[in-house]
Amino acid sequence: MQASSPILFLDTGVGGLSVLGEVRKSLPQAPILFAADYAGQPYGQKTEAQVAARVAGLLGRVTERYRPRLACIACNTASTIALGMVREVLEIPIVGTVPAIKPAAENTRTGVIGLLGTAGTIRQQYVDDLEAKFASGKTLLRHAAPELVGEAERKLRGGTPDRKVLAAALYALSAQDEAMALDQVILGCTHFPLLRKELADVAVHDLGWSPDVQFVDGAAGIARRIAHLLDGETFQRTGPDRAVTTGDLDHFLMLKPVLTTYGIDQIERF
Ligand code: DGL
Repeated sequence: MQASSPILFLDTGVGGLSVLGEVRKSLPQAPILFAADYAGQPYGQKTEAQVAARVAGLLGRVTERYRPRLACIACNTASTIALGMVREVLEIPIVGTVPAIKPAAENTRTGVIGLLGTAGTIRQQYVDDLEAKFASGKTLLRHAAPELVGEAERKLRGGTPDRKVLAAALYALSAQDEAMALDQVILGCTHFPLLRKELADVAVHDLGWSPDVQFVDGAAGIARRIAHLLDGETFQRTGPDRAVTTGDLDHFLMLKPVLTTYGIDQIERF
């Protein structure tokens, strides 16, 4: 393994940054390759077969070209659908991002948990299994909120998220909960933690939720897992960290100011 070999993050867009941000804190010297499959976005509206084929193909090509030491699938949709399959075909360690049902179930006092994700994620058997394993005896309310992906994309390009859209997604969860006992909301799409502040604000001020409701995601746990897997490895940057996209380069370049804050200064088409 070369010291310059990067850690790869793969998502369809800016969502991967919510995971990268946590990994940066524990591994500040690690070279990073951030891959955004804009040509494939949204994964959440695709079939399982489409997502699995796309993720496996793309990871294979990116891995061959850039030789990462580890790949983090920084996308809940791709992870809940294709993690097992991708692990079988790639030789490097693969870390997935799946809805943080375990910590939410540990922290809930009321026993009622909400899950916001893409349509692709919330219907997965993988999520049923996490619920059965970690949240049995609790209530898990699920809602698909693909429109929040676009709101996060807009925010990171300098726009303002639409409070009505955020409120509608949260309301769809609380409307399933007659007693309004929900006290944890899992942000089960990596785009959603980028809207955490706005969601929390809308919940309290526009919907009248208790300020005690917590918005949880798994990024810190993923960062710990990656740091553990790479324990003892050496890192050395031989150039700037890089972000690549399968989509339109000009659209991607609008993210330059944000990517710079994550330490990424080279932006190109893949
Ligand atoms: N960020 C992806 C996730 O975590 C979803 C975005 C998309 O639908 O492409 O599920």
